[in-house]
Amino acid sequence: MKIIVTENYDEMSKKAAEIIIDVIKNNPNAVLGLATGSSPIGTYRNMINDHKENGTSYKNVSTVNLDEYVSLDKDHDQSYAYFMRKNLFDELDIDQTNTHLPCGTAKDLAKECDRYNGILAKLVPDVQVLGIGSNGHIGFNEPGTPLDSVTHVVDLTESTIKDNSRLFASVDEVPKQALSMGIKNIMQAKSIVMVVSGKNKAEAVKGMVNGEITPELPASVLQLHPFVTLVCDKGAASLL
Ligand code: GLP
Repeated sequence: MKIIVTENYDEMSKKAAEIIIDVIKNNPNAVLGLATGSSPIGTYRNMINDHKENGTSYKNVSTVNLDEYVSLDKDHDQSYAYFMRKNLFDELDIDQTNTHLPCGTAKDLAKECDRYNGILAKLVPDVQVLGIGSNGHIGFNEPGTPLDSVTHVVDLTESTIKDNSRLFASVDEVPKQALSMGIKNIMQAKSIVMVVSGKNKAEAVKGMVNGEITPELPASVLQLHPFVTLVCDKGAASLL
């Protein structure tokens, strides 16, 4: 795992965006694997600025996202579909029919997972953006998720519901389930860029980089991937 430690969130975002922009410059038909959460927002902002200032085009880029809450419509302001439009897609020249997320309001969730696995079989990310949960989750693969899992329905843990409640009016409004790419799907990406900021993630980062590879800390599986770049600020790196 290549590790880049930055002074702060802004520098982390700039470095991560540079890596992704390079991938697109080398391959205008690139497939991007994308993540939500506070961690990648700055990275996306840098990609938007680069698109506007330098004209990097996303016309032929396709994207697949990691996850989506069950029950939130794509226009709900906390859905990941909405997050992606507002924080990235609406500001690029990307064809939004080439952007893919699992659908959290599908009637048959098992079928929706199959549909999404079918998309992932065709669209293998050249680079997958990841954040990490304070409990070591990646996507919404909570501790205990088998390392060979593919897209599945997840019962969110209390700690994730609590972490994510800051974005909802109350903790009761946080969905209790999500659809998430599995760990096996994530590991299929050709390369991975993980962005992590803040001391509250330091313990998870330490386990991911130096700990045992175990389903109890899903991110630890990244030790087995040949092309992972961890871009983290000093706080997140403080226990390394
Ligand atoms: C969420 C998302 C993850 C994200 C993580 C960290 O639950 N499903 O993909 O990496 O939590 O979020 P944040 O970057 O806001 O700390």
